[in-house]
Amino acid sequence: MKALVLAGGSGTRLRPVTHTLAKQLVPVANQPVLFYGLRAIAATGITEVGIVVGDTASQVQRAVGDGSRFGLHVTYLRQRKPLGLAHAVLIARDYLGADDFVMYLGDNFVADGITDLMDRFRSDRPAAQLMVAKVADPSAFGVAELGDDGRVVRVEEKPRRPRSDLALVGVYAFTPLVHEAVAGLAPSGRGELEITDAIQRLITDGHRVGHTVISGFWRDTGTVTDLLEVNRVILESVEPSIAGTVTADCELTGRVAVQAGAAVRRSRIVGPVVVGPGSVIEDCDIGPYTSIAEDCWLADSEIENSIVLRGASLRGVRRVSASLIGREAEVTGAPGVDCQLVLGDHSAVCVSP
Ligand code: TTP
Repeated sequence: MKALVLAGGSGTRLRPVTHTLAKQLVPVANQPVLFYGLRAIAATGITEVGIVVGDTASQVQRAVGDGSRFGLHVTYLRQRKPLGLAHAVLIARDYLGADDFVMYLGDNFVADGITDLMDRFRSDRPAAQLMVAKVADPSAFGVAELGDDGRVVRVEEKPRRPRSDLALVGVYAFTPLVHEAVAGLAPSGRGELEITDAIQRLITDGHRVGHTVISGFWRDTGTVTDLLEVNRVILESVEPSIAGTVTADCELTGRVAVQAGAAVRRSRIVGPVVVGPGSVIEDCDIGPYTSIAEDCWLADSEIENSIVLRGASLRGVRRVSASLIGREAEVTGAPGVDCQLVLGDHSAVCVSP
């Protein structure tokens, strides 16, 4: 059994950050979202992982390396263009060979992992096993319709009138039968080879497609809102720890992790918050639900419910919330102005009253 992790794509909904950073590498609680998925795969006992990469291939390769730190052996598979989830399976054909595989969308976060899905797939041996979750508005997702016996009888991509409230989560287990289904696909209306079309073909050809309903938290981190929500959920379980320096004039409450080499002075931090290595926090009011990556500089500022990427600085900005601040971005400003910012790398913003 192998895993196929999709870490290409264009990430248009997370621009401008994704102009320069692979969306799967955007950190949540100071770790790339992709790493949580790789750990979930390792937890199932799978070791052979093919990672599909696109324009951001070199970044992903630098971050993940050979996978040994996750207990995995990683092979990179280059996708020329993001032509769809089923196209990623098509280009991975030789790598996957005659093996079963789990396909994992690299920007997805599934709090309870994927072992339930894999156990069910291994015991039932359907042609495909789909991870699904009940959602309030299924029309934004791929939707699975079930028959009386619990089999999936139809899947539809973003249907206008959904036939069920079961959305496809970005994790699917397949037998090699999927390759025939993928080989026969034509591009959809949006010009992509759709994995839902391949699954529908399996069903139409009489193959069994099962499903596993998850009830825990999951999100596709394709938008800033979803990314911040994943950040909040992961931060909830951060272990409080002070490996950096915190001067006596600071007030820290709740789950606060000040990582090695970080310095906090004359500041109040309300957890959950994580402060990355080498970051300096002075005269600030931070949190809750804020991840500050490495080498940031925050002075005389207030920030909550946000992600600050490596090397960014905030000086005199009160108050920032629900924001994603790109690498090396510089925000300066006036007190008394509330800001909600999504800034790409190297942005420079001055907020005036
Ligand atoms: P999506 O979020 O569906 O697509 P996207 O990354 O192009 O984003 P956007 O819609 O904002 O432009 O992709 C889900 C995951 O699959 C994500 O990790 C990117 C990856 N992917 C590929 O690797 N190859 C592809 O051809 C596509 C469409 C996605």
